[in-house]
Amino acid sequence: MNTIDVETLRTWLEEGRPVTVLDIRPMHERAEWAVPESIHIEAYDALKTHDPGALAHLALPEGIPVVTVCAAGKTSLIAAELLQARGIQACSLDGGMKAWSLAWNVAEVPVAGASVHVFQVRRTGKGCLSYLLGAKDEAIVIDAALDPQVYLDLASTRGWQITSVLDTHIHADHLSRSRQLAERSGATLFLPAQQRVSFPFTAIRDGDTLATGTILLTALHTPGHTPESACYLLNNHLLFTGDTLFPTGIGRPDLEADELQAQVRASALYHSLHKLLALPSETLVLPGHTSTPVPFDGVPIAATLAEIDEKVGIIHEPRDQFVQMILQRIPPTPPNYERIVRLNEMGLLPESGVTDLEAGANRCAIS
Ligand SMILES: [Fe+2]
Repeated sequence: MNTIDVETLRTWLEEGRPVTVLDIRPMHERAEWAVPESIHIEAYDALKTHDPGALAHLALPEGIPVVTVCAAGKTSLIAAELLQARGIQACSLDGGMKAWSLAWNVAEVPVAGASVHVFQVRRTGKGCLSYLLGAKDEAIVIDAALDPQVYLDLASTRGWQITSVLDTHIHADHLSRSRQLAERSGATLFLPAQQRVSFPFTAIRDGDTLATGTILLTALHTPGHTPESACYLLNNHLLFTGDTLFPTGIGRPDLEADELQAQVRASALYHSLHKLLALPSETLVLPGHTSTPVPFDGVPIAATLAEIDEKVGIIHEPRDQFVQMILQRIPPTPPNYERIVRLNEMGLLPESGVTDLEAGANRCAIS
């Protein structure tokens, strides 16, 4: 076996099987994104020239299989063959980091009373966080960012039928899979009220509620990151914030906006954030993205409003100062975001080239 596919490696990591993931990319590429707990060797140029001594000084734990990783799965094959020649069980990650973009893992979010089960479904290869909420025989999915089959399988193993699918906003750094998931599952597709998308959906407005079994989801309109952005409050305890509020930062207000529009949005974001901070301080915030690879540790990425209140100092600035500061801290735009926004507005998922389009880390947050 010379190669391993993403699904197999992701399953090994989820099951905690011993494996050494060896990243052979140049350091600047690794700095952008990596496989959790992978190790690195600076040998890319030597491998490219088929230098037989490229990995000669690499010390590896004995008896543990090695998976070599590069950007697209070609140079990593050379690395795997060199290791095999040393008698080491090694294979190359098929498709490399580009394919790894679709790898995911799950963490259960503890819920008091446990009448509802909440799972954070994390696209570790890109940092998109989606949610599966289930009670009795029904389930809701928020911000689906992976193949619909992933959510369908997770729900069916628990005996749940997905009946509602929601997005927090029109995404700019990944293709939403919500429309496709709703079609596959027969669920109702809910989106925040807006005139941007050109396919049928049920509009959700500030204060609207969605009740299924023991789930009560309340929508809060929180414009700023985008004009339509919404947060969803589950049973007055968990808050799904999309890209409005993160454990260590806030949403960027500038995508698809000129300078003046960005200022107006930043000002709206200020009010939205204070609306959220007025909720009970023990409310647990579950964001839509993270900016680092998600470990296979089963620990949800979350923080209470109290923790965020303490950590994210910019929230406490006066409004004008807040607007000024946020506009000074805008990070580079996500690659291909204009094309991604157009596709999300049309509800289209291209049949090929998805991972090329979605390449790069998420950049929806300002910290
Ligand atoms: Fe976003």
